[in-house]
Amino acid sequence: MNQNQTGLSDSIGANVRIDAVTKTYETREGPGVHALDRIDLDLASGSFVACVGPSGCGKSTLLSLMAGLFPPSEGEIRVDGSVVRKAHPKVGVVFQTDLLLYWRTVLDNIMLPLEIKRQDREQGRKRALDLLVQVGLEGFESKYPSELSGGMRQRVAICRALIQEPGLLLMDEPFGALDALTREKMITDLEKMWLRLGNTVLFITHGIDEAVFLADRVLVMSPRPGRVDLDLTVDMPRPRNWGAAHEDPVFNGYVRQIRRIFEAEGVL
Ligand SMILES: Nc1ncnc2c1ncn2[C@@H]1O[C@H](COP(=O)(O)OP(=O)(O)OP(=O)(O)O)[C@@H](O)[C@H]1O
Ligand SMILES: [Mg+2]
Repeated sequence: MNQNQTGLSDSIGANVRIDAVTKTYETREGPGVHALDRIDLDLASGSFVACVGPSGCGKSTLLSLMAGLFPPSEGEIRVDGSVVRKAHPKVGVVFQTDLLLYWRTVLDNIMLPLEIKRQDREQGRKRALDLLVQVGLEGFESKYPSELSGGMRQRVAICRALIQEPGLLLMDEPFGALDALTREKMITDLEKMWLRLGNTVLFITHGIDEAVFLADRVLVMSPRPGRVDLDLTVDMPRPRNWGAAHEDPVFNGYVRQIRRIFEAEGVL
């Protein structure tokens, strides 16, 4: 087992290798949409990697390929050495909207992936309750999604993604729909949780500060077809503090470096 960079937890993080991955979507009219162009990437076990880039540059495409939702046009993705061919319990996914089932309680939403795989319910229940404590939702297990706020629902969606103890957690703009205060709290809590769990994370966001704050590494993607323009290592101690980070010249230096790329590309 590896230790993540803080040494706070043993890592269960998966190792990811993306090898010359290209994706062209077939369309009914004319040539296909060339979304990704020969992406080569390695994500180290237990690392937190953020990905920023202009709208339509292929971020969600990359995440969907890693989740095994559809295959690449060319190239290969391996998680812990196995080629990704379909959705896999080693990989948990959180989307921008929580996608909870409104007729199921919080607990039954979190347990859904286990039911699909027909895994032991009692053990799963214990894990689900433990995850709820970790995200600050102790005692909410019998509530329905309609009784929760947007931030609480997204916390439940994170628990659902984590119930199978995935080595790889994929997050596609998970806090994009939240108000600024809730978002800040969720970002800080996510860092704490990741420090405990040690999964490998790919976190997609439009927020440059969010990316730099959370990540060990920020991938800055070019406009479509997406390529990695900058692979920035964020060297700052953890756990980080949101307020203090924004006053830290090192943090602000990273943010500026990314902004400059977007300005040069005319995205900002
Ligand atoms: N199913 C599809 N069929 C055809 N084209 C698609 C499909 N899904 C995505 N695309 C196209 O592929 C490109 C990349 O889309 P993708 O959703 O990966 O971008 P993104 O970087 O996630 O954008 P955003 O930041 O707006 O979420 C876009 O031009 C999009 O129109
Ligand atoms: Mg997207």
